[in-house]
Amino acid sequence: MRTATVTGQTRILFILADPVEHVRGSALLTDFFQRQGVDAVVAPLHVRPPELETVLQGLRRLHNVAGFGVTIPHKIAVVPLLDAVTERARAVGAVNFVGRGADGRLHGDNIDGIGFIAGLRQGGVDPAGLSVLQVGAGGAGRAIAFALAAAGVRHLRIANRSVEKAAELAAAVQAAYPACTCEAGPANPAGFGLVVNTTSLGMQPGDALPLPTEALTPDCIVAEVIMTPSVTPLMAAAQARGCRVIAGRAMLEGQMDAAARIAGLWGGAEAQP
Ligand SMILES: NC(=O)c1ccc[n+]([C@@H]2O[C@H](COP(=O)([O-])OP(=O)(O)OC[C@H]3O[C@@H](n4cnc5c(N)ncnc54)[C@H](OP(=O)(O)O)[C@@H]3O)[C@@H](O)[C@H]2O)c1
Repeated sequence: MRTATVTGQTRILFILADPVEHVRGSALLTDFFQRQGVDAVVAPLHVRPPELETVLQGLRRLHNVAGFGVTIPHKIAVVPLLDAVTERARAVGAVNFVGRGADGRLHGDNIDGIGFIAGLRQGGVDPAGLSVLQVGAGGAGRAIAFALAAAGVRHLRIANRSVEKAAELAAAVQAAYPACTCEAGPANPAGFGLVVNTTSLGMQPGDALPLPTEALTPDCIVAEVIMTPSVTPLMAAAQARGCRVIAGRAMLEGQMDAAARIAGLWGGAEAQP
């Protein structure tokens, strides 16, 4: 990773988080900007929930700020504090990236899902026409379910520990994308072409597997959202059964182009919500 030279010309971005120690996206995004020849840097900002609104008021008034990422625990709380939010973010119910216009207005989007799809495509997987099992219906899961349907998956089953959340998400995706048949159901991967873990199971040593891996067959692609560890127990088990695997980092890398557009760093054009 190169060292960025920060001057008065440099556009500044942030990632708002609490806690902040685990944030890695700032370094990855800064490195991406450097590789693209864009004069912009990203720094993590430790923002506690009661101060989020005050921080946003300050960011509106900082004229060399191009935008900021939003992560745990602010993704839902930030929505009503913004000046505009995309339809996509409204459907998901959360924002993870915000652009700052020249007038200081803040427009939010949720690019978790399109990042996930871009990561799949980068890995040579086109989800269109596939039958998909998605495990998890939390924040990342909501974004990914809508994005999978938008990308043309034929059938989507959502499995979740809290089954009512899976049912609610499946109904919302079905209503928005009638061509994709959506259902809530068990996490049995048999017969699915693509299996996606969107739960946090696999981050901590000793976590249970999110699904019964003995039912995976080599023709099934397994995608993960977890970035740390880089190879989760699910990925290791899937690889051992001959499956192609897409790692969680691909989802984050897949968001960088969209983040640059929302921040107006591609040719100066500001993405419209
Ligand atoms: N790669 C990327 O770019 C990227 C982006 C965003 C998030 N992520 C990762 O995605 C993961 C989920 O994040 P999130 O924001 O969606 O979290 P979240 O909103 O808290 O959702 C967590 C999900 O995991 C399930 N879960 C948690 N503990 C469980 C357990 N013990 N047994 C069964 N299910 C369990 C939850 O089920 P319930 O609904 O039943 O609680 C829910 O479906 C995290 O690892 C996060 O780091 C990655």
